Amino acid sequence: MSQTSSTHERLIETYRKKAKHYDVTSRLYPAPGYPQRTQRLRAVRALGLRPGDTVVDIACGTGLNFPLLERAVGPGGRIVGVDLTDAMLARAQDRIETNGWSNVSLVQADAAGFDFPAGVNAILSTYAMTQVPECAEVIAHGAAALSGGGHWVVLDLKVPGYTPGWLAQLGTATVRPFASIDEWITRRPWEAIRAAMREELADVAWTELFFGTAFLAAGSR
Ligand SMILES: C[S@@+](CC[C@H](N)C(=O)[O-])C[C@H]1O[C@@H](n2cnc3c(N)ncnc32)[C@H](O)[C@@H]1O
Repeated sequence: MSQTSSTHERLIETYRKKAKHYDVTSRLYPAPGYPQRTQRLRAVRALGLRPGDTVVDIACGTGLNFPLLERAVGPGGRIVGVDLTDAMLARAQDRIETNGWSNVSLVQADAAGFDFPAGVNAILSTYAMTQVPECAEVIAHGAAALSGGGHWVVLDLKVPGYTPGWLAQLGTATVRPFASIDEWITRRPWEAIRAAMREELADVAWTELFFGTAFLAAGSR
């Protein structure tokens, strides 16, 4: 088994176990007191969506962003949720059926190999892109598919600057499912995401959130 497929297997196994209770446990993510809903709202606002738009939610998990995206694109718009883990997508499907949305489609795929629909109006990824080793390529593929003026927005976690190693390890305990903390801290994927967005997009805005433990990155084509 290749390194990539064994990493995926481990990740899928972890999120299969988390899927059932994810919507509740994620309220405490990454730490109690973190304004999870406010940050999601900020991220969705940064997409600049209009009624009728098409938006891709990369690594959508159980679809926690869907209600906000639905409100923005309306019934005439389209949402495409992409995720690697079948069990997370099954929860997302439950959410779609419970709400009676007919304009949301789900794709089980690795973000790294996903073929973005051409001319998509916006792309969002929340709390997932730093888990994807090929995050820079995903940013580039998405940017190439965006329509003119379309927005790419990433909301995710990072290690605050100037933090003692032991504190960073404590604060990033939540990354355990998908990589060793040491690997995540050493790899610093948020820097690769920032660099890729600057390379591929215009008007890139980078905002540090919650004492530098999270970031919102937004750019447009
Ligand atoms: C912490 S959850 C975030 C879910 C959702 N975006 C949210 O904000 O609640 C991380 C999700 O990323 C997905 N994921 C991780 N690596 C992925 C990859 N390479 N391709 C697609 N999905 C991936 C996992 O299956 C999981 O559903």
